[in-house]
Amino acid sequence: MRILSGIQPSGSLHLGNYFGMMKKMIEYQEGGELFCFIANYHAMSSVSDGKALAKGTLEAAANFLALGMDPEKSTFWVQSDVPEVQELTWVLSNFTPMGLLERCHSYKDKTARGIAANHGLFAYPVLMAADILLFQSEKVPVGKDQKQHVEVTRDIAIKVNNEYGDIFTLPEPDIDDNVATIPGLDGQKMSKSYGNTIDLFVDEKTLRKQVMRIVTDPTPVEDPKNPDKCNVFQIYRLFMNKTQEAELRRRYEAGGLGYGEVKQELFETVRDFFAPFTERRNELLANPDGLRAILAQGAQKARYSASKTLRKVRKKTGLAY
Ligand code: ADP
Ligand code: TRP
Repeated sequence: MRILSGIQPSGSLHLGNYFGMMKKMIEYQEGGELFCFIANYHAMSSVSDGKALAKGTLEAAANFLALGMDPEKSTFWVQSDVPEVQELTWVLSNFTPMGLLERCHSYKDKTARGIAANHGLFAYPVLMAADILLFQSEKVPVGKDQKQHVEVTRDIAIKVNNEYGDIFTLPEPDIDDNVATIPGLDGQKMSKSYGNTIDLFVDEKTLRKQVMRIVTDPTPVEDPKNPDKCNVFQIYRLFMNKTQEAELRRRYEAGGLGYGEVKQELFETVRDFFAPFTERRNELLANPDGLRAILAQGAQKARYSASKTLRKVRKKTGLAY
């Protein structure tokens, strides 16, 4: 099974990113054939500072590698290192009705908020279709917000296949309903834009501060507490197996457990869990050329795969003459 997903380089990482998406991607390396890339072309729709994009790209790569992406087991690259995707984007554009793109939420939401859309934002789903189809992907793990883009991809692929015969594999979105939304400090979805995150790669002091800011109710220490309504519990359980979770639940229900105490435990757990990853990440970032070399190898593998599809496309469309 060929699984593909792209991740925008987006600055700092939080527990929602890790437990909601990255952990799952890293686990996919074991069963399937994983293709995973840093979507830096896509990031241009929101980042125009070149230095920031370059730095964010290297950091995103270091994050994934440190957390367990293995470039031997998977194909891991930076989108712009495989320019074939742009050629396919152009071909696909000619099979993409305007109406299909006009119906896309990402574009509609921005224009509805009065943001002047540019062509990059409008054509974003076509580039995403090219990412997916270029590698004949079968399964595309994405968040709910990206489901429509995978459906657009299928529509485009069907149109091309109808015209030229079966060039493209039709991808299925893989939306994991079990990965519940990870709650943030205030119980809302953890998100950079809500300022309610617990971050992965920050210093101890900042991490402790974030954990201590988790919103709790004013139940006195000695009273029994309801773990299902507690933001600390909801985050802490991500790090636990069933037995550990049951034990913590028992401590909540028994009374005598203070939120300060359980927050301190959670802080230590998060710190210790990510400590080895932080160390590996720092090593990778200390040697950017080494990192670039890993990515260059990934790009080479990806280009080999891409060229097979593109050869077919060029032949069928008449671009090869
Ligand atoms: P943010 O909301 O902080 O801007 P992004 O949109 O950059 O996060 O998230 C990148 C990916 O991480 C998303 O596609 C989603 O799969 C995952 N993710 C982010 N926040 C959460 C969350 N709170 N719960 C589950 N998954 C999340
Ligand atoms: N648009 C996706 C996001 O913002 C990232 C992405 C780009 C992607 N190309 C992709 C995801 C191809 C899956 C497959 O999250």
